[in-house]
Amino acid sequence: MIGRLNHVAIAVKDLEKSTSLYRDTLGAKVSSPQAEPAHGVTVVFIELPNTKIELLAPLGENSPIAKFLEKNPDGGMHHICYEVEDIIAARDRLKATGARVLGDGEPKIGAHGKPVLFLHPKDFNGTLVELEQV
Ligand code: CO
Repeated sequence: MIGRLNHVAIAVKDLEKSTSLYRDTLGAKVSSPQAEPAHGVTVVFIELPNTKIELLAPLGENSPIAKFLEKNPDGGMHHICYEVEDIIAARDRLKATGARVLGDGEPKIGAHGKPVLFLHPKDFNGTLVELEQV
């Protein structure tokens, strides 16, 4: 059911510093910062030959990654995103096996303008999983 690894998201406190790390130290192609007020984050996309890295920094007061950064002050891997062809079919299949879909269970439009869902980390080896319909 799952397809390609779409991206790995890393939560960071200092977006400029982390962008510079990828651009200047690691020599990667990085995007300009993109504010996503609906998701409470500012995102920088790093293009790798086979996938993407997303740097997520908190935006606004109730950012969903604020708590994560409190627990992980140096930043850390926040989630991984797998591609699916049909997000509703994927959701229904997961729910039928008892996996927990976060939020109200309805796909939202993610940072790439495509429908996404998040799955509970306790059901996936301690890793927050995002599904994106491509
Ligand atoms: Co993501």
